[in-house]
Amino acid sequence: MLEARDLTISYDDRIAVSDVTLTLTPGEITALVGPNGAGKSTLLRSLNGQVPRTSGAVLLDGQPIEKYNRRTIGRRVAVVAQEAELRFPVTVLEFVLGGRFAWGPSSGWGWETEQDLRVAAAVLAETELHELSGRLMNELSGGERQRAVLARALATEAAFLLLDEPTANLDLSHQATLLNLVRKRCDMRQASSLVVTHDLNLTAQFADRILLMRDGKVVRLGKPEEVLTAELLNQVFNVEVLVDAHPITGAPRVTPIRRN
Ligand SMILES: Nc1ncnc2c1ncn2[C@@H]1O[C@H](COP(=O)(O)OP(=O)(O)O)[C@@H](O)[C@H]1O
Ligand SMILES: [Mg+2]
Repeated sequence: MLEARDLTISYDDRIAVSDVTLTLTPGEITALVGPNGAGKSTLLRSLNGQVPRTSGAVLLDGQPIEKYNRRTIGRRVAVVAQEAELRFPVTVLEFVLGGRFAWGPSSGWGWETEQDLRVAAAVLAETELHELSGRLMNELSGGERQRAVLARALATEAAFLLLDEPTANLDLSHQATLLNLVRKRCDMRQASSLVVTHDLNLTAQFADRILLMRDGKVVRLGKPEEVLTAELLNQVFNVEVLVDAHPITGAPRVTPIRRN
């Protein structure tokens, strides 16, 4: 299990995450939503111990995350940051193999083992990128690049996938493809995922739970129908919305109301 317990994080004297408690459990997708500046990215990045805490704890299997070395954390927790820098002219295969780094013996190129290559080939097939494996990362379309970023995270074989806006800028079909890959990893391998997104209707369909944050604090954590209420969304996003049941899936459906 990966847990944040009463976690508070400040940048200088400004609090970005305030007293957040969250447990990521196997097989579950938790969506992390909230207005810009709510502290979503800070919380996500803190869960692999990379962001210094002000107070509280991050626990991996019940132990403070500081007790583990970086390689061990790298094998357990995969973090995909928002707008990851991808200007290096590496091929898709090289990029995805980078996800095996924490399993390798040392730094430098040419360290990858047969096992690393097998895992990379499998995730490239899974993400339907095998035909593009020799293509340079900076020569991919937005959707392909975001799939490659997910492929690299899947190649880590980490039990915890922390994804910051992985579907931003993707069209409807690519959004669904990407989230289906995350769902599959959670179902088949009992992985656990935390996904930041602004698409509330999408969260209602793919998330088991939603964590709604504002000003660094947890507003509510629960099932989609417990979090996606008109009253709460109005209060947090300051827009009037209609929430009804999707006629086919029955999931909560959020529609902004425009009034003149
Ligand atoms: N590296 C940083 N240094 C200083 N302040 C930061 C840094 N990153 C984020 N912040 C601030 O912390 C708050 C939360 O930011 P962030 O976690 O990026 O929110 P979100 O991802 O929900 O938009 C914001 O007020 C932001 O300005
Ligand atoms: Mg962010």
